[in-house]
Amino acid sequence: MTVTFLMDGKEVTAQDGQTLLDVARENGIEIPTICFHEATTANAVCRICVVEVEGMRTLQPSCIVKAATNMKVQTRSEKVVRARKTILEMLSATMDLSEAADIQAMMKEYGARDERFPDAVRRESDIKDDNPMYIRDYSKCLLCWRCVQVCADDAQFTYAINFEGRGYETQIGTFFDKAIPQTTCVLCGQCVGVCPTGALKPKREFLLEKGKTPAEISVMNTGRKQRKPR
Ligand code: SF4
Ligand code: FES
Repeated sequence: MTVTFLMDGKEVTAQDGQTLLDVARENGIEIPTICFHEATTANAVCRICVVEVEGMRTLQPSCIVKAATNMKVQTRSEKVVRARKTILEMLSATMDLSEAADIQAMMKEYGARDERFPDAVRRESDIKDDNPMYIRDYSKCLLCWRCVQVCADDAQFTYAINFEGRGYETQIGTFFDKAIPQTTCVLCGQCVGVCPTGALKPKREFLLEKGKTPAEISVMNTGRKQRKPR
């Protein structure tokens, strides 16, 4: 079954079950996303993809709201732009976005200011370097949920990481904060691959940034010096 509705004043058609984001993308309409990832189940936690739907009191997250007949959707109304800008400013005030290039680009596009919420509490965390594959820096984590999902039912079925704590204290972690080698983690790297902010980073990249040479990294990994070429 197909549904027909208006998106930014243009008549569009969707297959039953398609989200507003799906339809926008099919029609070349740009809607920004952060927590959404094709490989994970959408949970609409960041709200950057909100759109205005006539008759609905609040803005709607397009990554989970399904298209319906006769909807009238505005993807870039004044209200939508203001909401996206505020979301970006809140993110910027509470976490380290220095390695989140896509989000930085959005901030520029929406004119979001770093200093909008000067009294906000920033997420602080020591870098967790406890395994040979990747480091975890949760000061850069925006709790998008992607890593937890690929570790669980969306891909790996390993369940090594999950949400911990409540409210402002919520963070991603292992059970009882155990080091990665003491969990069910198989070092598949999928969590690193879906992290949008650099909170999870390959260990090699981390060490190169710290000034280690490839030869030094090789010694750290294998315990053996690299042979000189003959
Ligand atoms: S560590 Fe990365 S992928 Fe996981 S919740 Fe935080 S930002 Fe998202
Ligand atoms: S991308 Fe839709 S809520 Fe995050």
